[in-house]
Order: sequence, then structure tokens, then C-alpha cells
Amino acid sequence: MRQSSLVVVANRLPLDDSAAPDGACEWRRSPGGLAGALHAILQQTGATWVGWDGTVGEARPLPDLGSLRLRPMALDEDETRGYYEGFANGTLWPLYHDAVESPVFDRGWWETYKAVNRRFAEAAAEVAEPGATVWVQDYHLHLVPQLLRELRPDLLIGFFLHVPFPPPELFMQLPRRVELLRGMLGADLVGFQRPQAAHNVAQLAAKLLGAQGADDAIVLEDRVVRTGAFPVSIDVAEMRSLSARPYVINQARKLRHDLGSHKRVLLSVDRLDYTKGIEHRLTAYAELLRDGLVKVRDTVVVQVAVPSRERVETYRGLRDRIEREVGRINGEYGRVGEPAIHYLNQPFDRADLAALYQTADVMVVTPLRDGMNLVAKEFVAARRDDTGALVLSEFAGAAAELEDAFQVNPHDVDGLKETLLRALSADPADLAARMAGMRRYLTDHDIHAWARDYLTTLSFSSQSRTASIGS
Ligand code: ADP
Ligand code: G6P
Repeated sequence: MRQSSLVVVANRLPLDDSAAPDGACEWRRSPGGLAGALHAILQQTGATWVGWDGTVGEARPLPDLGSLRLRPMALDEDETRGYYEGFANGTLWPLYHDAVESPVFDRGWWETYKAVNRRFAEAAAEVAEPGATVWVQDYHLHLVPQLLRELRPDLLIGFFLHVPFPPPELFMQLPRRVELLRGMLGADLVGFQRPQAAHNVAQLAAKLLGAQGADDAIVLEDRVVRTGAFPVSIDVAEMRSLSARPYVINQARKLRHDLGSHKRVLLSVDRLDYTKGIEHRLTAYAELLRDGLVKVRDTVVVQVAVPSRERVETYRGLRDRIEREVGRINGEYGRVGEPAIHYLNQPFDRADLAALYQTADVMVVTPLRDGMNLVAKEFVAARRDDTGALVLSEFAGAAAELEDAFQVNPHDVDGLKETLLRALSADPADLAARMAGMRRYLTDHDIHAWARDYLTTLSFSSQSRTASIGS
């Protein structure tokens, strides 16, 4: 077994298999912010990524991605149900997103979650060379830092949570709150998207574990655990260069033509997830059509909603509701050859996404709660000519950084309608100034800066060991 000096452990590998029309398996980059972000920085590092390829049953061998080695983890049917669909996405995901859907507390899921976390920790221990840095990602693997520390005290261990960390009163609902907190605080550095998360964790560590310290350093028994905010970002250079490709420019022109050259295009791109606020957005748009404030002859919505976690009941129910609502809106307001909403429930490759971003007059990103939301950042990076408006939920982590967006509370449907109208009728000079500001910000805060910042802080949290990564 080859070992690496940098090991990333994440539930999801950056590749996803999907059946081609002839039934053969095809590998492609998985949708979702975590995989995209890390893939961009790890390709040239000689690191190893321990994770799951999304299929149930035996793990298939995977090719290296550049110099990045993939160490696939198998999940059998019970593990997929109890760990991935169950505790991770039926309990933690809704709880961490303000309980916009009710979290389910199923005692059976916990044992599976613990067992799978142990297997991930063992796999990481196997592929980490002596003194290596191991960077554990996200809510699926809360217990890995502590388990790994027990197995390999020589390692430098980081943990990064891509989703929001909830307020203490929500976290306190978790039957296994002490174990989860202790597991995560097994790391040397625990990183979050927003400073509030570190504050919440410090409060909980004091209350549940008797820890001391402050928002940036928690003293737990004989150890100091550093914490802090490291807002994740995108590969800005990749999105810019994609956007300049002749294929993308032509594709964007073609899309505009197909959608109706004179029309204003409102675009949304989400995983089909109840945290993304798709239903609130559809309600707002339907009301604007009803009130005659927008008309199908001069405005069109494109909603990309890539399938996600489809075996989880709440996701299936959401898909049904959305498809019914899109059908109703199109039935009521569409005209022959002119739907009110183009609904695309399919994955796109990066170039086609970049073309879509260039096609939009208004990008509508209105999650009810989101750790960051990389789609908002991708849209900004794709707008080479500083045109277009970004409508952005206050409840996305990205709102703290993209201050020039048209910010909105997506729960307030009237406010959402007003903001959409404001964005649709904004002065081009105002839009250009906003977009230029956001683009400048992203240039300095891309995914490479994020990784450097996190790993440098991690290396300082243990004086004797250093993590290195290509810049
Ligand atoms: P989340 O991580 O919750 O899915 P983000 O907005 O942070 O939300 O990240 C979503 C990522 O998935 C983005 O990088 C986006 O480009 C990608 N993505 C979204 N929709 C699609 C799609 N239909 N096809 C391929 N990738 C997609
Ligand atoms: C979010 C989570 C990631 C996850 C992604 C896609 O970004 O923070 O950990 O990988 O959604 O979800 P999935 O369940 O398909 O991995």
C-alpha cells in the first residue's frame, strides 16, 4: 500500500459513476460543492483521497486523477441506508440546515454511522505516511478525527465542515451530541465556513465537555483544538478560462437564441435539495406571472435541478412537488413553444454549466440555508464582461462575501418578488459595478487561497509538523 504525506478523507470521491445509455459505467465529476472544490486543489499534489464512489456494494478500483490517488471505500446496502441516507442525510443534514425538514432520530442509524466512521479512519491510517497530514471533510465523518488520533497519534489532523454548524439549541437535540462533538474535536484544527459556527462549537464544548477556551482555541483535557472560519471557494481561473472557450461562447449564444433572444433569462442551478429554496422561488415566480408583473413573452426561467440523494424519501417527495408545480406553472402561463420555466433534472458538464451561467440575465440563488453555495461564486467568475445580476439568499455563506449581490430573505416571498423585479430592471452601470466588485473579491479568495490558508493554519497548530500543498 503506497502512503501519502497528505490524505483527504471525505464521504464522496470526486468521481461519480452513472450508467451510459448502453448500460456501461461512465465516470464523471460528482455534483456538489465539496468534491468540486477539493478536486481542484488536489490534482497535482500526490495526495490520497479516501472516499465512496456512490455505488452500493463492492468498491471498484479507480484510476488516479493526475497525481491524486483515489482510495475507494465500499458501502453495502445496510451501511448506505444507516450511515449515508440515515444518520448523515436523514439526521445531521436537516438538523444542520435549520431543521427546514424535520431531522429523524433513528437509534439504529447511529451504530452504522459509528462503524462506517471507524472504517474510514482505518483506511486513512493505512494510507497516511508517518507524520502525515490528514484532512477530514464534512458531517458524514464527525467521528473520524478522534478515531484516527487513537490509531495514529503521529498524524496532524484537520477537520472541515462544509455545511453550517447549527446554533446550540438545535445541536442539543441530537441524542449523540457528546460523541459527535468529541469526535470532531479530535482534530488539531476544526474549520468552518462562518465564524458563528466556531462560536457555537466553543459554547457547546464548554457546556457538554467542560472544555475551556475561546472561539479560536478550545482547551479539552490536555489538548488545544484550534477552530476558525475558512470560507470555501472555487477554482476561479478554471471558470474564467472555461468561459473564454469558443465552445462555451457559441453554446451560450445558441442557448440565448433557443430561449428567445429578446427575453430576459432567470437562471437557477441547484442540487435538488430542500435546503435550496426551489419551492419558494417557484411560488414567487408564479405570483409575478399571476400579477402580470412579468410576462412569458419577455421573461423565461431556467431551473437546473440535478438529482440528489434520490433514495431518501424527503428528496423524492420534493422532486414530485417541484415537478407538479413546474407543470402547473407551465400549464397556466406557458404558450405554445414558449414555456414559462425550462426545468432540467440532469447533470451538466463544466463547459455547459459555464455556457448556462453566461446566458443568464439574473442568477437566482436562494437557499433557505447553505454552508457556502459555490454556484453563486461560479456564476460571478463566469461573467467575464461584468454583465448580469446575482440574487443571493442572506442565508447562504456566500452572502457574507458577495456583498454586492441583490441579497434577499427567501422565506419572505413578497421580498423575493420585489428583489427579482429590482434585479430585472437594474441599471446596467449599477450591475457592472456590482459584478466587477464581486469578481475582484473572488480573484483574491479562490480555492487555492482557501486551501493554503487552512493548511498553513493547521501546520501552525502543531509546531513540529508542517503540511504542504502546491499553490
Ligand atoms: P452543494 O454543495 O450543496 O451541492 P454548491 O452550490 O456549493 O451546493 O455546489 C454545487 C456544485 O455542484 C457546484 O460546483 C455546481 O457547479 C455543481 N452542479 C450543480 N448542478 C449541477 C449539474 N446539473 N450538473 C453538474 N454539476 C452541477
Ligand atoms: C454538500 C455536502 C457534501 C456533499 C454534496 C453532495 O456539498 O456538503 O459533503 O458531497 O453536498 O451531496 P452527496 O450526498 O451527493 O454527496
